[in-house]
Amino acid sequence: MSSLRIVIALVLAGLLASCDDPRPDVTVDAGDPETVAAGDGPAGAVARGAAPVAFGICRSCHSVEKGQTIVGPSLWGVYGRRMGDLPGYDFSQGMKASGLVLNDATLDRWLANPVAMIPGTRMGYAGQPDPEKRRQIIAYLKTLH
Ligand code: HEC
Repeated sequence: MSSLRIVIALVLAGLLASCDDPRPDVTVDAGDPETVAAGDGPAGAVARGAAPVAFGICRSCHSVEKGQTIVGPSLWGVYGRRMGDLPGYDFSQGMKASGLVLNDATLDRWLANPVAMIPGTRMGYAGQPDPEKRRQIIAYLKTLH
């Protein structure tokens, strides 16, 4: 009887441990907000290429691998490229016609409120209202080269 209890305990422990597993494609390093907030300096997590917490939601639609499409285009090399101009991705008309280059200013506007910037965009994301979080996201996008 007691050995059965041990087996049950082991099985439960195993289940609990597997529940703790982070999703493999999410950078859990970013779970430490202190580290991420220190992203300004070269020693900061963002400078090392760790994704800030606020980037987590982007991953449900964007890969950071070159050439990999999820729902949205790959964000590899996105900083500095022309909006709506990644070969092989079918952008909405407004994105293609924007004529904008994705830099600090345009990315900040975009991430604050995509629909306000490009009406009719297919990016189903309401926007990030916190300027500091947008800054962290943009700093991270710059490392994707
Ligand atoms: C629900 C899915 C979804 C989420 C969440 C999402 N995006 Fe997007 N994103 C898209 C789609 C779809 C497009 C293409 C839009 C179009 O063609 O109108 C896009 C376009 C973009 C572009 C323009 C790329 C280019 O080459 O022109 C950038 C930059 C971008 N997203 C960044 C982000 C970031 C950063 C986040 C998180 C803060 C995010 N997105 C969240 C779906 C999403």
